[in-house]
Amino acid sequence: MPQALFLDQNDDGDMHADVRAVDRDQLPEGDVLVRVLYSSLNYKDGLAVTGKGKIIRGAFPFIPGIDLVGEVEASEVAGFEVGDRVIQTGWGLGETHWGGYSQLQRVRAEWLVPLPVSLTPQNAMTAGTAGFTAMLAVMGLEDHGLPPGAGEVVVTGASGGVGSFAVALLGALGYDVVASTGSEAAHTYLRDLGAARLIHRDELAQGPQRPMESARWAGAVDTVGGATLAAVIAQLERHGSVAACGNAGGFQLHTTVFPFILRGASLLGIDSNTCPNDRRRRAWHRLADVLSEETFDRIRAEVIGLGQIAEKAEAIMQGQIQGRVVVDVNQ
Ligand SMILES: NC(=O)c1ccc[n+]([C@@H]2O[C@H](COP(=O)([O-])OP(=O)(O)OC[C@H]3O[C@@H](n4cnc5c(N)ncnc54)[C@H](OP(=O)(O)O)[C@@H]3O)[C@@H](O)[C@H]2O)c1
Repeated sequence: MPQALFLDQNDDGDMHADVRAVDRDQLPEGDVLVRVLYSSLNYKDGLAVTGKGKIIRGAFPFIPGIDLVGEVEASEVAGFEVGDRVIQTGWGLGETHWGGYSQLQRVRAEWLVPLPVSLTPQNAMTAGTAGFTAMLAVMGLEDHGLPPGAGEVVVTGASGGVGSFAVALLGALGYDVVASTGSEAAHTYLRDLGAARLIHRDELAQGPQRPMESARWAGAVDTVGGATLAAVIAQLERHGSVAACGNAGGFQLHTTVFPFILRGASLLGIDSNTCPNDRRRRAWHRLADVLSEETFDRIRAEVIGLGQIAEKAEAIMQGQIQGRVVVDVNQ
């Protein structure tokens, strides 16, 4: 019988996680049955598993996990055959629909992306939602007309999951990458990934002192939000853009219209969860093409089993995880 991590919630709202058998008749509705190989542990999964954030919007007991990669075991639709390797991130996986922390899961075909041939299942989950979001951010900057060589592109929260992949992708594509980080221990790691220069995150964390400051950035990928994003907006060069992906440092944004109306700055929103499927496919293929095996080796991924998720979820909430965590659901 396949195993899965189930979350139960008691009357006080406390979450309890436990690995147990899942019958395929219990699985949610969908037209593709996936034999899951790997999932991953993201900050959002940490919030869900510990109950510290209201991520799960389905009935309990619930199987979390916002990412999965696996092989099609049965399919009711053309386009997905038995044995095909597929990825799902987002579309409510692990939030409204049972997720990737299960050896077997049933999902909807329109949510799935074929695993690019050059990407191993484990590397796909080393990337997971974090790598996919970084790719969407880079594509957003490209679509907005930012070519390599246009000037410095800053990545905030650079040592985190999204930040690391943004540094690696931009570096591999030939951009002049500046990594903004609060972690001195990550300097060598970020240089090896592709950062040409590093700044301390405190340079941006105070927010802008004036509506427009000296123009420093041709573009930016921001995972921090709050005052950091406001500072980046005030420091964008003419017609520069920032792809806003996260709120690791705050969700409020205090800015003025001046960078937008006097410098033509653009604020690009990135939502990986509901990204349309054709763009999703392009992003995964792009990611597989751009990143080398060596880059995946550098972005350390700790591999854990279903039984270690609860403990690691606490650790990710305490900021004690470096790099990415891949879940081998069959371990
Ligand atoms: N838009 C989307 O679809 C999407 C998808 C995935 C994630 N996200 C969001 O993106 C953000 C990053 O996700 P992640 O998975 O990369 O998280 P993560 O691995 O925890 O990385 C976040 C990084 O932000 C920096 N940071 C943490 N706390 C900070 C603070 N108080 N002030 C300034 N910087 C701080 C740290 O980097 P340094 O030590 O290098 O400074 C940290 O490593 C999160 O807010 C997440 O919710 C959004």
